[in-house]
Amino acid sequence: MTPPASDPRSLRDAFGCFMTGVTIVTTLDAAGKPVGFTANSFSSVSLDPPLLLVSIAARSASLPAFAAGRGFAVNVLAEGQKDLANTFARPAENRFADVYWRQGPVGAPLIAGTSAWFDCALEQAIPAGDHVILIGRIGGFAATSAPGLGYYRGAYVTPAQTAAQLPTGPDVVISAILEAQGSVLLVDDGLGGAALPMARVGREGVQAALAALIAGTGLTAEPGSIYSVYEDGVQRRQHIAFRCPASAGTPARGAFVELSAEGLADITDPAMRIMLERLAAEAQVGNYGIYFGTHEHGHVTRAGERLS
Ligand SMILES: Cc1cc2nc3c(=O)[nH]c(=O)nc-3n(C[C@H](O)[C@H](O)[C@H](O)COP(=O)(O)O)c2cc1C
Repeated sequence: MTPPASDPRSLRDAFGCFMTGVTIVTTLDAAGKPVGFTANSFSSVSLDPPLLLVSIAARSASLPAFAAGRGFAVNVLAEGQKDLANTFARPAENRFADVYWRQGPVGAPLIAGTSAWFDCALEQAIPAGDHVILIGRIGGFAATSAPGLGYYRGAYVTPAQTAAQLPTGPDVVISAILEAQGSVLLVDDGLGGAALPMARVGREGVQAALAALIAGTGLTAEPGSIYSVYEDGVQRRQHIAFRCPASAGTPARGAFVELSAEGLADITDPAMRIMLERLAAEAQVGNYGIYFGTHEHGHVTRAGERLS
């Protein structure tokens, strides 16, 4: 059920799905005292003329200073400035107490150590619902290479942190079909059954993950050709299986089993068992195909056939 647009809480949560940067918007009050608040409603508006906007709550204690028209600056916070963002988002006697700042070319306070800043003359202040849109004409700006601080679903995020946490696309796993003399290496799957040696592909990429997987088996084997690519709807991952003929060595774990229905009976994952049963059949005739599909449905393409 779609929550009513009038439900501020779910509306705020929905806004939170949009990952933003974090800024501190600053100006000087009538006494020349710095004033500022944390904002993520910042957006570029126009390049020529150079305009940007930020939206301030109509009930904000800082609004009078901004509406007075002395101009304002948008300080784009760097990833290490989360505490500063919190300071300028909470009521405080003097938010600038421990902040190094200088006046910008247009006159608004520029906070030290930011990722970028824009110093503006106030072009327009447009009431919009429970906020006022401040449109600024940029009189000066600068950008650095410092990664910015992000805000996502009510939490601060940083590019480094996000990159590590961010899923690298769909979960990709690889398995190595290490074959030797009509048998294949199976290992304990930790579920009381057996499986091919498998690994999740991280930022190192498929090739490096496969090389590491083979090395971990203790066998000498070539990272071979793709044998099967399928979307595993149960485990919600992409599965790529490689045929890797093993030439020597003793497995560090697991054991070789005959490529036959009996030998493969202990495999827990039905999609994997069916795949190896296909290999057993194809090994009989020496004609191998590549499977594309899901863990349930797909097709085998043989050499020279067009992928349909
Ligand atoms: C990440 C973040 C983004 C915010 N964005 C805005 C914003 O765009 N506009 C706004 O008016 N308040 C925003 N706020 C809330 C103000 O920073 C907060 O209400 C602050 O106390 C306002 O100060 P003031 O009342 O002294 O002006 C944001 C707060 C956080 C933590």
